[in-house]
Amino acid sequence: MPLTETAPALDLSYVRSQFPSLAQTVNGQPAVFFDGPGGTQVPQRVIDAISNYLRRDNANTGGAYATSRHTDAMIAEARAAMADFLHCGADEVAFGPNMTTLTFAISRALGRDLHPGDEILLTRLDHDANFSPWTAMAEDRGVTVRIAEFRDEDCTLDLADLASKITSKTRLVAVGYASNAVGTINPVKKIVELAHKAGALAYIDAVHYGPHGLIDVAGLDCDFLACSTYKFFGPHMGVLFGKREHLKRLRPYKVRPNTNAIPNCWEWGTLNHECIAGIAACVDYLADLGRHSIASCGDGRLGRPSSEARPELPDRRAAIEAAYAAIHEHERGLLERMMTGLNKIPGIKIYGITDPARFDERCATFAVRIEGHTPLELATKLGDRGFFTWDGNYYALNLTEHFDVEKSGGFLRIGLVHYNTSEEVDRMLAALREILGA
Ligand SMILES: Cc1ncc(COP(=O)(O)O)c(C=O)c1O
Repeated sequence: MPLTETAPALDLSYVRSQFPSLAQTVNGQPAVFFDGPGGTQVPQRVIDAISNYLRRDNANTGGAYATSRHTDAMIAEARAAMADFLHCGADEVAFGPNMTTLTFAISRALGRDLHPGDEILLTRLDHDANFSPWTAMAEDRGVTVRIAEFRDEDCTLDLADLASKITSKTRLVAVGYASNAVGTINPVKKIVELAHKAGALAYIDAVHYGPHGLIDVAGLDCDFLACSTYKFFGPHMGVLFGKREHLKRLRPYKVRPNTNAIPNCWEWGTLNHECIAGIAACVDYLADLGRHSIASCGDGRLGRPSSEARPELPDRRAAIEAAYAAIHEHERGLLERMMTGLNKIPGIKIYGITDPARFDERCATFAVRIEGHTPLELATKLGDRGFFTWDGNYYALNLTEHFDVEKSGGFLRIGLVHYNTSEEVDRMLAALREILGA
């Protein structure tokens, strides 16, 4: 819920000034980062937090001396920051190397209580990190795997199919919040409700949604949600939310000296402390972006006279909400512009939702194929001109197999985030037309 009636404005020059890497050039051309779904750039404060931690406090946890105590305090602050980001308690936040590793760990722990005859429900739209950890566990435990299908024409989940596959035997429903290939945003709140009605747990993969939309685990009422900070302007780390009751009840595989207290019992070995320092900085970047956006409302850009009283500076969660309201508005403009331009490219096939009336159901992540050109050829030619896109399956393997494009190079993926500009969109469309001779 944004604090203002209209979404606060995104000040793009403020945003871009925070990210030093955006100033790079390739072959004399400005670098254009349309590779956000593979990992986003980081603001200067994240770089500073990581290097300051290594310079000053580089220590293990739980020691009776200054740098170790600083490390304990820093991790507690990063946990509190992620709790504000996700909207949960700090003891419900566990850090790990990445979402995939955390999901394998949770799947093993959940599997301890599952038996032959139990069922789990996965989707064909998901990244393999929310698929293979569950099928591996199911194989070990003799659990039946069911798969919810998506519709070919718009790459949205077939909710009727999904609902029909949730039965009294279903113990878990694992679903992605947004597709990292075609950009579909799934109705996860509804899916959590369906799972809970049947007495099943709901596990949400929010990795691709994280940079685009506000995550509210309290509002979703999901049992678990995993995300990766490197997809939303932070360091290469994974974060897991688990409801307190589940984190306490389930039994993690762990070493004996690791305490049984949550969330530490869900964190294995020595963590990447310098990156955890970067996580707090990344959440604070988003909160400051929200505050900056709200403050920008007072200069008349949103129709409010600058003399009018500005809203009070909000707390961190409210500021994060404001940031995402501004991000959403800006990305929506980019989405419309890119879609309009791509639609005019001869021989193109755009996978996923293309109807502007349904753009609330997708983010600005485009999977395309262009007749007569492989995704690798296009990504290489774009890359030579400074445009960073991706080719292949990006681990959305079920999707590329379903469309039978695995052997022919998958899709070209163009992924936008809030630091991208409409000029970059126009330049990339022009470059694509030049490459195609269109
Ligand atoms: C939707 C989605 N889920 C899961 C993952 C895996 O995340 P991680 O690299 O943190 O394991 C990715 C990575 O690209 C992703 O896009």
